[in-house]
Formats: sequence, C-alpha cells, structure tokens
Amino acid sequence: MAELLRYERLAADLEGMIVQGMLRHGDRLPSVRRLAEERRLSVSTVVQALRQLEDRGLLEARPQSGYFVRRAAAVRALPDARSTPETAVQVDVTQRLVAVLRAGSLPGVAPLAAALPAPSLLPVAALQRLYAGVARRHPRLLEGASHIHMDEPALVRQLVRRSLAWGGPLDAEEIVVTNSCTEALGLCLRAVTQPGDTVAVESPGYYLMLQLLETLGLKALEIPTDPRTGMSVEALDLATRERRIAACLLVPNASNPLGSVMPEEKKRQLATLTATRGVAVIEDDIYGDLHYGSQRPWPIKAFDTSGNVMLCASFSKSLSPSLRIGFVAAGRYRSSIALQKTITSGGTNPVTQHVLAEYLESGAYERHLRKLRRHYERQVASMSEAVIRHFPAETRITAPQGGYVLWVELPEAIDATALHAHAVAEGLAFVPGELFSASGMYRNCLRLNCGNPHSAEIEDAIRRLGALISHRLPAPITA
Ligand SMILES: Cc1ncc(COP(=O)(O)O)c(C=O)c1O
Repeated sequence: MAELLRYERLAADLEGMIVQGMLRHGDRLPSVRRLAEERRLSVSTVVQALRQLEDRGLLEARPQSGYFVRRAAAVRALPDARSTPETAVQVDVTQRLVAVLRAGSLPGVAPLAAALPAPSLLPVAALQRLYAGVARRHPRLLEGASHIHMDEPALVRQLVRRSLAWGGPLDAEEIVVTNSCTEALGLCLRAVTQPGDTVAVESPGYYLMLQLLETLGLKALEIPTDPRTGMSVEALDLATRERRIAACLLVPNASNPLGSVMPEEKKRQLATLTATRGVAVIEDDIYGDLHYGSQRPWPIKAFDTSGNVMLCASFSKSLSPSLRIGFVAAGRYRSSIALQKTITSGGTNPVTQHVLAEYLESGAYERHLRKLRRHYERQVASMSEAVIRHFPAETRITAPQGGYVLWVELPEAIDATALHAHAVAEGLAFVPGELFSASGMYRNCLRLNCGNPHSAEIEDAIRRLGALISHRLPAPITA
C-alpha cells in the first residue's frame, strides 16, 4: 500500500480515534498550533488534515473556537439510494411486524425496536398538572363531545400560530384534529384512494404506512430514497408518466428510517409535479420539530399552491405517545377527511386537546423542544459510535438529520430477518430492514431506536448484537 502523506497520516489517526470513541461527538480538538507542535508538523499540514476531515463531515470548524467532532457516522456513511422494482405490489407486512414489535417490548429486552422516546425525556409532571387544571376549570369538556364541532378552537389557534415558523400560516378551516398521526394518515388515504389504487412510497419507508396500504387494499410503488435528500423526484416524475398514481405518501423531514431531510428545492419540485399530474400528497411531518439543524425544515405544504398537500403530524415523538393527539391540515380534501373522521371516531378527546393548547400557549413546548432535539442528536451520535465500535467494518449507517432512529446496512451476507430470530432468543431487539419495503428489499439492513439516553445496557446490547453478526459472517478466504 502506498505510504500515506503526512497530512493523511494525521487525518487517519484522528479518524481512528473518532471510530474508537476516544474522540466523541461535540469534543473539541487541540488547537492547530498545538497539534503542529506535538506532531512535529507544519501548521499548513495540520490544516490540510483537518480540512479533509471537515469535508467528509467528521469535523466542524467553529469560528474563533476551533475544530469540533461532528459525528462518527460519516466514517461509515451509507451510499446513495438503491434502485427499486418498477411495478407496484400488494403489501403483506403486518403479521411479521406485529411479531417483531411484540418481541421487542418483552421485559428485559433493550429498547431498540419500536421508535419510542424514553419516559425520562417527556414533561410528564407538567402534563399531569395541566390535566388536573383543565378538568377543574372547564367542566363542560367532560359533559359531552360534539360530532359537529370536533376541533377545539384553542388548539387549532395554536397549530396555526406554530405553522408561521415553517412557511405557514395554515388556514384554520383546513385543520382536522385527530387521534394521533396514524389516524390522520389513514383518514387521508381513505379520502383520496379506492381499493386497488397505487400509492407511491419511500423506499425504505415507514412500516406503518405499508400496513395502512395493506389493510386498505392499496398497492405500493416504492420510489428510491436517498439517505440524505429523501425521495427521488426524478423517479417519481418517471413513475407518474407511466401509470396512474392516486397518492404519494412520504416523510420529507427526518424520514423514518433514514433520517433524511428533503432540500427545499426538491420539495418545491415535488409539490409542482404532483399538482400537475393529479397525484394527492400525504406528508407526515411528525419529526419536523425534531430537526438537528439551526432552522426548522419547511414541509412540502409550504410550497403547495393548490391545496393538494395534506400535512399530517402529532405530538407522539416530541411530547408523549400517550396523548394520541395529531392533526391533518387537509387543503382541498378537508370535507372528505372531516367526513372520514366523523364516521371513524367521531372526534378527539376535548380535554387532551385543551391540555395541549395550554401547553403550547405557555411557551413550554418550545423550551422543551430545544432540549429534546439536543438529547436525540446526542443519542443518535452515541448509538452510531457504538455500532461503529462493535459491528463488522463493512457496516454502513445513516447520518440522520433529525428524529431518533438509525438505519444500519450490514454486510451483504447477513440476513437481518434470520439474525432477528437469534437475537430475540438472546434478549436483543431491532426491526429487520425488509419490513420497510413492500417488495422485501433491505434484507441485510436493520433499524435501531435511539429514543433512550445511551446507557451501559444499550452499549452492551449493541456489543452482543455485533458479536452475533460477526459470528454469522462467512470466514475470510485465505490464500
Ligand atoms: C413517520 C411516523 N409517522 C407516524 C408515527 C406514529 O405516530 P402516532 O403515534 O402519532 O400515531 C410514527 C411512529 O413511529 C412515525 O415514525
């Protein structure tokens, strides 16, 4: 092997320390001058090494403060989107999925399967106080709900106000409050599709969306999705030229499982393309508030000029999954969605709607989010470092830009579904990659939940999982 240049040697040494976890996310490097003195190098050689690591996303230069470690994930970055089948397929994931999620929630199993936040990160005490206060101050809320006025104006007002931060304001008239994001997505699909229709989805894409298609008798057309920039608009363009697609269902901000954020220009293109081709857009923005960057990414809805985009979200990932409060800003599909809501569940708990409205109004939510985003980013970074430490060297991982799941691509030879059966027997959990694809792609991939603070227990679970994987690798061929 060619000998490394001096700057390459330094870059390789620093990279090794990041991979080994000696240098961690957020750590500050010694100054350029000190590195130069200690390594007997010129300042320009040190700067060249640091710039190389910066270009690769491993380091971040902060003006006046020096170089900081960004994320170990960049060392093992996942390559581009995979190509997907050209035909739409029937979905059949539910039975396998239920078994996987059940196995992942057994007592004593590290919480790496379902994407759930740690209870310790949630403002449970504040919500408790609000529930008691709201029930006392507004007894009428306990006296009966209305099938005509389903949405509490106090909550709708807060949702409209918050939307200013991402290219809103939403129109209060288009909002339907729902029992969770799942209900919102189901209502949208029922409003714009008939059984047998085709729906374009991300690949890999969130398994619950596939389940919804399965139960509604819809076919899934998988669209290649880039680990950094999300669904391919070019591929969607081609697909919509060739066949009728009733709807496009996607998570453009911090997708599940890739954590990708679609750049704004792509969102604008997607909004225009779908409006022109008559494809309804159902976007799930549940992770939009949980971005790691300095600015809240806008949803596709912000670029919608014809009411074609239905924006769904909930507070399950940011406040508490138990609230079961979500909403859809339904654009021109508002009346059919409101009808679907009436015949599905009649309305959404008014006490909880008020609790949420008061929490949002107090400003506590924004303060909570500021801390929560940093927690999730740190947890994902720690999980990435643990995977790099303990999984085989050929493993590739995502560099999520928000949310709290990590997608892991194992060496080709590993079947993550078969691995799962062994892992469960050892008290280990994850979600196998094939459940994120209607056509059974991603057999060598898996998703890890990073919703919990990184602990010795989680580190140990990743270490043991890594050992199981290494054990299943074919022995290297020796000459
Ligand atoms: C992208 C996405 N949408 C929706 C949900 C479910 O949200 P809710 O609990 O509000 O139904 C999840 C949960 O994992 C998710 O990842």
